[in-house]
Amino acid sequence: MTAPATIDLREYIRNIPDFPKPGIQFKDITPLLASPEAFRSAIEQLAAHFRGRGVEVIAAAEARGFIFGAPLAMQMGAGFVPIRKPGKLPYATIAQEYQLEYGSDRLEVHSDALGRGRRVLLLDDVLATGGTMKACIDLVHSAGAELVACAFVIELSFLEGRARLTPPEVFSLITY
Ligand code: PRP
Repeated sequence: MTAPATIDLREYIRNIPDFPKPGIQFKDITPLLASPEAFRSAIEQLAAHFRGRGVEVIAAAEARGFIFGAPLAMQMGAGFVPIRKPGKLPYATIAQEYQLEYGSDRLEVHSDALGRGRRVLLLDDVLATGGTMKACIDLVHSAGAELVACAFVIELSFLEGRARLTPPEVFSLITY
């Protein structure tokens, strides 16, 4: 499965002004997902970047992280581990609190999903403030797994989320 190398993923990201509240420019990924060529290209570009790095597990937070995480795992011959919002996972979990603009939230992962020393690539659709990914990084470390990198389809660099992350590498396909 090979997508055209020339595809410009930015053309498939739609700007939505004032969503979800006034003053915020929302980056809508649904046109990219709806295009077989663009979606495939995004997954292939991520896989090409991380191929040969010994990635055993792709882990991603719900919901939008799942959309990219599962096909990337298939493409790379890796497993997929869901990181979920509270109360969704049925087995024993480890949890990590993180700050939102107002209040806090929590992410959970199965306690046996990120085994000690397993090489994990964390993936999400968007890096904004970095709070979500920071919580995912803390979960990987709590589990004793080895973090290879954090990858994103879109990075909103003006929010400086990258500065909150300390993995070996932060990689983004599109930066605004
Ligand atoms: C969005 C997005 C990232 C996160 C980025 O998820 O999918 O996970 O926000 O923001 P941050 O860098 O400031 O943490 P959201 O919490 O809206 O959940 P969803 O994927 O279920 O829509």
